[in-house]
Amino acid sequence: MKNKLAVFGGAPIRKKSLMFGRPLIGREEIEEVVKTLKSGWISTGPRVVRFEEDFKKYIGSRHAIALNSCSAGLHLALIAAGVKEGDEVITTPFTFAATANVICHLGARPIFVDIEKDTLNIFPEDIEKKITSKTKVILPVHFAGHPCRMDEIMDISRRRKVLVVEDAAHALEAKVNGLKIGRIGHAASFSFYATKNLTTGEGGMVTTEIKSWAKKICSLRLHGLNADAWRRYGAGAPRHYEVISPGYKYNMMDIQAALGIHQLRKLDKNYTLRKKYFERYNEAFKDMEGIEVPIEKEYVKHAYHLYVIRIKRKALKVGRDEINRALRAENIGTGIHFVSLHRHPYYRKAFNYKANDFPVANDASSRVISLPLSPGLKPGDVEDTIRAVKKVFNYFQR
Ligand SMILES: Cc1ncc(COP(=O)(O)O)c(C=O)c1O
Repeated sequence: MKNKLAVFGGAPIRKKSLMFGRPLIGREEIEEVVKTLKSGWISTGPRVVRFEEDFKKYIGSRHAIALNSCSAGLHLALIAAGVKEGDEVITTPFTFAATANVICHLGARPIFVDIEKDTLNIFPEDIEKKITSKTKVILPVHFAGHPCRMDEIMDISRRRKVLVVEDAAHALEAKVNGLKIGRIGHAASFSFYATKNLTTGEGGMVTTEIKSWAKKICSLRLHGLNADAWRRYGAGAPRHYEVISPGYKYNMMDIQAALGIHQLRKLDKNYTLRKKYFERYNEAFKDMEGIEVPIEKEYVKHAYHLYVIRIKRKALKVGRDEINRALRAENIGTGIHFVSLHRHPYYRKAFNYKANDFPVANDASSRVISLPLSPGLKPGDVEDTIRAVKKVFNYFQR
């Protein structure tokens, strides 16, 4: 690869690489993990139960079920919703592979709907046009932490009798018209992957108001047993369990929950920090010709998970990939969220998609760049990123 440093003819803005999505793990998390390791109970146990209770209180949901990933949560929520072979699930192509892969795991068909130009979230007006007798679920994704138009989506759900499972991987703190994500659809799945707003390394949580769904998900997360593992071994626990369905190995460990319990307590503090960085970026880039900054609708609380700019091709001599390479040469860690799934080989071939079938998602796929946005950043890191962005965009300006 050509070294862009040569193009700029000078030292990179940062000497050391700035990591994208670096988590902030404090003394409290580390001490809790050590305590867990010393306790002898390291897999699913009392800390998972405590984390579920705390999370339930935070969201205000009736149920919260901890899992080893958000992907697992989406998979099990779709099973709870009754999705089977031949069914259709309406979702966005502008997402991570997990969202649509879990639909395919069930032998169902992901039906993509294009996204809004401003938020890059699924376009509710087009959802209804894609509903057929096979549609079981609408699966919206709250891209980058900006929630979807859930009022419209829930209205479609009620009128057309389809269920709603939310991919809330990015949307932990998000609200729509004052209502928390995690309490709106029939179920929502959150991610605690390393770069997420709350991290347990890997992990996830499903929230739902529906008792039968919670019970099913609880059982399916551990091989379809009728009792959780830790209840099998605890004092006074029943000696026997029964397999009531062929479930999965999707349970969260106490080692993960040890992190989660303390990450949850720090959520507001970390949110405030990311919000400050997000606003600082907006301020710095709002008048730059080559950049479209993210928007925030007035009826939402944004979860500020990703800071995604879109390059404006007309103002620049090069494309997104060149800009991205140049930022990396300045030692700024970036991400691409996302290349629309309909452009990936599997989805292209399996469903015969053409690039322009979803024009907005297609266009965004080659314009987006995510800049570092995590509580692990220092204000100086944000200023370095701004200087690097300005340097690169000014250099490539037409
Ligand atoms: C939109 C979206 N959905 C689902 C997932 C899957 O999350 P997990 O890695 O916890 O399974 C991710 C992960 O990054 C994501 O970005």
